Amino acid sequence: MAKGINTKGPEKTKRENRDLRQLVSELEQRTAKLQAANEELQATEEELRATNEELAAAEEELRTANEELQSAVEESKKAKTYSEGILSSMVDGLGVIDLQGIVLDVNDSLLRMMGYKREELVGSHFSRILGEKDMPRFIATMSQVMSGTPLESFEMETPTKTGADLPVSVTATMLKDEQGNPGAIFAVLRDISETKRLIRELEDRNTELQASEEELRATNEELEAANEELREAQEGLIRSEKLAAVGQLASGVGHELRNPLGAIKNAVFYVKRRLAKSDLAATDPRIFEFLDIIDGEVDAANKVISDLLGFSRVAKPAVSPTAVKAIVEDALKYLQLLEDVDLIIKLNSRLPLVQVDPDQIRQVFTNIMLNAQEAMPEGGRLTIAAQAKGEFVEVKFTDTGCGIPESTMRKIFDPLFTTKAKGVGLGLSVCQSIIERHGGSIKVESDVDKGTTFSVLLPVVPD
Ligand SMILES: Nc1ncnc2c1ncn2[C@@H]1O[C@H](COP(=O)(O)OP(=O)(O)O)[C@@H](O)[C@H]1O
Ligand SMILES: [Mg+2]
Repeated sequence: MAKGINTKGPEKTKRENRDLRQLVSELEQRTAKLQAANEELQATEEELRATNEELAAAEEELRTANEELQSAVEESKKAKTYSEGILSSMVDGLGVIDLQGIVLDVNDSLLRMMGYKREELVGSHFSRILGEKDMPRFIATMSQVMSGTPLESFEMETPTKTGADLPVSVTATMLKDEQGNPGAIFAVLRDISETKRLIRELEDRNTELQASEEELRATNEELEAANEELREAQEGLIRSEKLAAVGQLASGVGHELRNPLGAIKNAVFYVKRRLAKSDLAATDPRIFEFLDIIDGEVDAANKVISDLLGFSRVAKPAVSPTAVKAIVEDALKYLQLLEDVDLIIKLNSRLPLVQVDPDQIRQVFTNIMLNAQEAMPEGGRLTIAAQAKGEFVEVKFTDTGCGIPESTMRKIFDPLFTTKAKGVGLGLSVCQSIIERHGGSIKVESDVDKGTTFSVLLPVVPD
């Protein structure tokens, strides 16, 4: 080949050179173009990489967004089942009613309570649940709910499917729609039949308790009355036993003392008469004084004895129609009141006659008047008044003496009870037995430091 080149002509070489140069320049051009294209490609690739990265990031974002979305969906599903669970497991009956009164939804408890199936209630008017009876009251309170105030439990009876009335307490709240306007009413019905039953039972128990308390009180009162009666009977028994014992003693002692006292009295009488004729009477007048004292004391002793004997005498009174005035006058003669006692007698002259033993009643009057005088040691006023009182004549002896304190009032008729130093304590018990034997009665009223009134009822002569 080298030989071939060497054999080329100059013309031919020139042309060939020119062609070569052209080729080189063409090559150079192409290389430049290629370079540019390459650069462009590199840039595009760079761009593509960046885009790719962006895309990957976007995809990542999308994935997390998707995950979030899924978990949100999951959560809301859970929440839904949860609230549905709450609603269906609630013991209270729930119902949602629209503003036209149509039941939108109810829970299982409500269906159980009312005995309906879901399709029987949902879609029908709520009067089916609440019944017509309490409807006006319900509607009135509903307007309150519509204004947004929740209705605070409202008790009523709602008809169940079987027709029985179920006592319930209703609470209602207004539910608002998205715009905040009244949308529906959410009502809660609580079965209160058990509470009602318990209250009724409690009330019954209470009435029973009250009744038995009343019974107990009555029994107690009866017992107390019986006790009081027993106490009185016992007191009576003790009194009559005491009376019998005192009576026996009194008659024994009385009779034993009567004779010696009689003998003393006779002896004094005899001595007085003999002395009156002697000089001794003139020389020593005190002898007479002493004899008078003996005489007076014998009289006093005799009085005690007649008290004792009068007390022991169980003789039936020898009754005859008698004027009270006559007995009073007789008693006053017998007693002879002291001068510092003002005597006021108010006796109606037209008093009916009384059917009494005049001697025994005189004894009663003297005993009472003597006590009155003894109650007024500084003097005072004794008023004797009498008036007809049905089948009786009431004779009242009122003094202005010391009075009888409440504590001794119960005992003054007891034999041997006395508050006096020299008292025997038989006067009033004798009075009481005599009056009782006559079918009359004796009672006393007294104010300490003001005075005492003894009232004696004596039977009038029967027609
Ligand atoms: N008029 C009276 N005023 C105040 N106390 C009286 C009166 N009458 C009776 N009493 C009270 O009743 C008691 C009993 O009276 P009575 O049986 O006559 O017995 P005595 O006169 O011997 O005490 C008296 O001791 C006295 O305490
Ligand atoms: Mg007396």
